[in-house]
Amino acid sequence: MPGDKSISHRALMLGALADGTSTIGGLSTGADVIGTASIMSSLGATVTLGERVSVIGPPEGLTPSCDPLDCGNSGTTARLLLGLLAGVPGVHHLDGDESLRRRPMNRVLAPLHLMGVALSTPEVNATFPLTIESSGRSLALSYDVPVVSAQVKSAVLFAGLVADGPVTVRERVTTRTNTEDMFADAGLRVERSAWRVGQSVTLWPGRPTARHWEVPGDPSQAAFFAVLAAVSGSRIALPSLYQGPERTGFLRVLERMGARVDWLPDEVVVQGADLEGTEIFGSEIPSVDEVPALAVACAAARGRSVFRDVGELRFKESDRFAATIALVQALGAVAWADEDDLIIDGLTSARAFEDFAFGSALDHRMVMAAAVAGVAGRGVTIETPLAVASSYPHFFADLESVLS
Ligand code: S3P
Repeated sequence: MPGDKSISHRALMLGALADGTSTIGGLSTGADVIGTASIMSSLGATVTLGERVSVIGPPEGLTPSCDPLDCGNSGTTARLLLGLLAGVPGVHHLDGDESLRRRPMNRVLAPLHLMGVALSTPEVNATFPLTIESSGRSLALSYDVPVVSAQVKSAVLFAGLVADGPVTVRERVTTRTNTEDMFADAGLRVERSAWRVGQSVTLWPGRPTARHWEVPGDPSQAAFFAVLAAVSGSRIALPSLYQGPERTGFLRVLERMGARVDWLPDEVVVQGADLEGTEIFGSEIPSVDEVPALAVACAAARGRSVFRDVGELRFKESDRFAATIALVQALGAVAWADEDDLIIDGLTSARAFEDFAFGSALDHRMVMAAAVAGVAGRGVTIETPLAVASSYPHFFADLESVLS
C-alpha cells in the first residue's frame, strides 16, 4: 500500500521544524504530500526526495517565503500549515487550486486568531487565497473543536508548539491521533485523556527532535481494495497497514456487513461474502474518507444502509455527499440524503451494477470509488482519472495488478 498520507505530511512538517536531519521511509508519493515537501523547502528546510527522504530543519528555524505557498488540492497541507506558520515570524501568503479555494478555512482561523495569529483579510469566513501574519509566538489556549476534524485539532497543536503555555484541544469524537502520537514520538510532552465520548489532548510547547520516521501503509487507500474484495467475493491481503482504531473503522463496518476480516500484526486480510446493509455511525469513520468506498459496498449489499451524521462530506475535495449519491445512483441502486444522513438501498450483488460513466468530480477518492465499482460490476468510463494523482498516483497500476 502507498505510504499513509496523514503521517507523511506530518513527518515532513516535523522534520522541517526540528533542528537537524530527519529521514523518512515509505513517504506517500501523492501530489498533496510532494506539495507539502516543496512548501517546507520554500520555508528554508532542505528536503531531498527519494526512496529514503531526508529533511534538514534549519537550526535557527523556518523563515517566510516571498512567493505564495501553493497548497494545491490538499486541505491537510493548508490547515496544518496555517498552524505551523504561527511559529514562523513574518507574513505568509497561501493559495491552492480551485477546489481548495472553495473549502472552509474559518474552522482553523478561528482558534488561530485566539492564539494571536493575525489574518490580513477581515472576513471571518475567509477562504484561500489569504495572507496571515505571525509573531513567531502564540498564546496558550484551551479549545473545544466545534467540528469533527483532525485537521483543526492538528492546526491548534502545531500552533501550540510556540505557545506561552500548554495548549489543550478537546474533541467530542476522537479523530485520527497521528499529530499527537507523532509529537510524542518527536520528544514533545503530550498528554491524552478521555473527554465525553472523545478525548482531550494537552501539548506543552517545545521543538520537535529530528529522527527517522517509517510511514506505514495508508488504510484509507486500502479501503478501495478491501471493498473490491468484499463485493466481489474475493480475498485480498493488505500489507503493512497503519492499524489505528480511528482509521480502520471501515474494516469493522465491512465485517458487520458480512465480510471476513483477519487482523494480523503485519497485514489485514479481507474475504468477500454476500453483504447485508448496515447502519454506520459518523464516529466509526470520523473523517468520513472511506464513505465513498463503503457506499459501493452498500450498493452491492442486501437491504438498506444508513450513514449517520456524515455532513462533513460536503466540505471535502468535492461535495462528496452529492457525488456519492450520484455514484450509487449511476450503479442503479437507490440513494438519497436525509439532512446529514446518507441512505442507500442496495442491489444485493455487485453483479447487478449498471455500466456507467463517471466524470463530475475532480476528486481522487470519488474516482477510486468509481473505478472499484466499475471493476466489480460491468465497467465504468472515468473522465478524470488523473485526479488520483493527488494521493495515489499508481492507483490504476495497483488495481490492474490485483486483477491479473
Ligand atoms: C486528515 C484529516 C481528515 C481527512 C484528510 C486527512 C489529516 O480531514 O479527511 O484526508 O491528515 O489530518 P478532517 O480534518 O475533516 O478530519
